Amino acid sequence: MEHCAKKVKLDSTSIKEGEAEILVNNTNVFYNPVQEFNRDLSTAVLMTYIKNRSKESQKEEGITILEALSATGLRSIRYAKEIQGIKQIVSNDISAKAVESIKRNIQHNGVEDIVKPSHEDATLLMYQSRKDKFDVVDLDPYGCPTIFLDAAVQCVSDGGLLMITATDMAVLAGNSPETCYLKYGAISLKSKACHEMALRILLQNIASHAGRYGRYIVPMLSISADFYIRVFVKVFSSQIKCKENATKIGMVYQCTGCESISTQSLCYKKPSGGYKLTSLPYVDRLCKICKHKHHEGGPIWLGPLHDQHFVSQLLCNLDEMKLVTSKRIEGVLNVVHEELDVPLYYTLDRLMSTIKCITPSMLIFRSALLNAGYHVSYSHACKISIKTDAPNEVIWDIVRAWEKKNPIKRDKLPNDSSAIKILDTPTTIDVSFDIHPLANPVSRQNKLSRFQKNPTVNWGPGTRAKTRIDLENEFEISKKIKNQNKHSKKEKPQVTENAEETQPV
Ligand SMILES: C[S@@+](CC[C@H](N)C(=O)[O-])C[C@H]1O[C@@H](n2cnc3c(N)ncnc32)[C@H](O)[C@@H]1O
Ligand SMILES: [Zn+2]
Repeated sequence: MEHCAKKVKLDSTSIKEGEAEILVNNTNVFYNPVQEFNRDLSTAVLMTYIKNRSKESQKEEGITILEALSATGLRSIRYAKEIQGIKQIVSNDISAKAVESIKRNIQHNGVEDIVKPSHEDATLLMYQSRKDKFDVVDLDPYGCPTIFLDAAVQCVSDGGLLMITATDMAVLAGNSPETCYLKYGAISLKSKACHEMALRILLQNIASHAGRYGRYIVPMLSISADFYIRVFVKVFSSQIKCKENATKIGMVYQCTGCESISTQSLCYKKPSGGYKLTSLPYVDRLCKICKHKHHEGGPIWLGPLHDQHFVSQLLCNLDEMKLVTSKRIEGVLNVVHEELDVPLYYTLDRLMSTIKCITPSMLIFRSALLNAGYHVSYSHACKISIKTDAPNEVIWDIVRAWEKKNPIKRDKLPNDSSAIKILDTPTTIDVSFDIHPLANPVSRQNKLSRFQKNPTVNWGPGTRAKTRIDLENEFEISKKIKNQNKHSKKEKPQVTENAEETQPV
């Protein structure tokens, strides 16, 4: 069997991560060290969530957790050993080999009093737990999590927490919109903001599942990292509040020429009460900026991606946890904390390459937006992202003004190109490129490790599992790994976006 994530014969008989030690018993083992960030972050989120709950309720006797897709039990064991206030964790897997390994590891780590092994189809187990719900449900599948969501949104308690991973980024990032529709009920678009689009597609899907049972979600933290996304959402029951879903979910329009993005929610809330339908068309047939057609994607989640109060609590709690990836978590969370609550973003290189012009530094472009009276932030999902509440017209005014200072050679471009159409449109505002005091964000000034440095040998879907205990049948593993690599070439430009650190700011 040939694939990138080779099976590795380990010399050692155990793997240590956090407070847990996982036995590998000299079997062929797959293990993905890159996912340590995911597990560390989940541990920190869970700890903060439990702390908040015990502050809210004096008689809290410990929470219950279901790790529905547990593999070796590593996550469950880490939660049990590293976090106070847990009554019970059910560590479940459908594979008999996995459950054997879970049992061995529970014993080896001495957490029999907290972690209970379970050998069940996760869906069945979650449906059976609709009455006796869990406070937290952790779903960490290979690929797409949506087949588990109908059951998951029903078996988590009121105010409970869902922690969900998705690793099928090629589908979510617009490589096959029709498959994305099948899996997530939404059309994905090829966009520079694809990583945030992926988060918003998943959140939309969770919210719509929850809505069917009179429940609504509040995202606490939504992270795009490496080759996956991970969302942490609270689930509440309220027949009235869940109706707001239609105001928090909407369509996204992207111009096929200049890639300008517009979003529109499915419904609006009337100030007098009740809901109002939106009027169409929201965007003109041709883009106002460059006169090209639009693509329609979505529906996506348009509400907040994070609860910023929760993010600050999380940052405060980091100090008391001994997490190997805490520097990276701190950096990412600081960028998340600075993120504007505005859907999606542009990237500086794409804005400039649309008109074939040299790229200014982030500091200069961000200053121009701030000088024009708008807000700007990075997205944690992309190093050269520009997230702003400025209208598309203003963004392109700034691009045009930059070209005036750095003229391109127009004679080489066809008259109907997006570049010429954009440059020939009159500018609506006076643009100032004077450096603005807020243009350099605090997270950058403090030199935090905000974005992942160059990919390591274990980075990315192709090599995501350096070693993994052989829990699934060989055919399934080879098929999945092959598929995960399928679009690795196409996704390369996302890696080149990491050019920001080399740019003068
Ligand atoms: C990505 S692994 C989980 C990794 C683990 N959470 C960790 O952090 O190390 C996914 C696991 O889901 C299990 N699985 C797949 N379908 C399942 C189902 N329907 N019910 C329960 N387990 C399932 C697989 O056997 C596999 O062990
Ligand atoms: Zn356009």
